Amino acid sequence: MTGSEELRPSIDIHSHLVPGVDDGAATVEDVLEGLGRLTGEGVSTLVTTPHLDGSLTLLPRPFEERMSQIDEAFARARKSVEGSFPELSFHRANEVALDHPEPDLSDPRMRLSPSGGILVEWPRLRVPPGSPQVLERLGEQGIPLVLAHPERYRLGESAMDRMEAWREAGAIFQVNYGSLVGAFGPDARRRSLNLLARGWVDLLASDFHGRPRLPLHIAEARDTVLSGGRDEGDGMEAWIRLTRTNPQRILDGELPLAVPPLGNGGTLWSRFTSLFR
Ligand SMILES: [Fe+2]
Repeated sequence: MTGSEELRPSIDIHSHLVPGVDDGAATVEDVLEGLGRLTGEGVSTLVTTPHLDGSLTLLPRPFEERMSQIDEAFARARKSVEGSFPELSFHRANEVALDHPEPDLSDPRMRLSPSGGILVEWPRLRVPPGSPQVLERLGEQGIPLVLAHPERYRLGESAMDRMEAWREAGAIFQVNYGSLVGAFGPDARRRSLNLLARGWVDLLASDFHGRPRLPLHIAEARDTVLSGGRDEGDGMEAWIRLTRTNPQRILDGELPLAVPPLGNGGTLWSRFTSLFR
């Protein structure tokens, strides 16, 4: 592997590239356009994750209808994807909104791989009461829970305390590339840098919504991570864990490896502290 290949992410476990089933890609053409750019950034394995309300899993017939709709749209897209990107490993799972405290997570199609974890989010960026207990109870089922973009929820002053409680409940944190560079606003940026500085980010993903010309922000996020280490080696080690090692471990049903805290004297720390001035 050359130095520049190491800098490229290879596994992306959060995106909305099943056409016409959620607020992501509308058409197969949009999927192909997005995949052209993602593979151009070095992504070689992509698990796409259409939205699914957890409450639906408790209603057998509507749940089955929704899953069949996603299955069919994915199968259609996959044919074109295999033709255009034969090297890409392209799969589907779901991003499950925890709009009910006890969804049924037993359907294997929701998982990021046959033995992998499940990507979950709080519904409509609002955190329900008792959120750590929800994560803890679901975690008792033995499936690793990857919490999508913890930096983006409306948490107010106590944001970091709430996030600490989620981590103690066993949640694995997936931060969006775009958050690190301000694409989701200053609060999400500040929190994502704070999470990196604490070593609380387990992996990065695009959460790409499949719209032509919507930026991916992968290259800028890479610069942020690489410049955040005490030395070049630290930043590189963190980048590889965040974009390769830990996503692969999630797919293998293993827990992520610790990511070195960034920002101890590097330029990331200067940027992070400058946000409070
Ligand atoms: Fe998403």
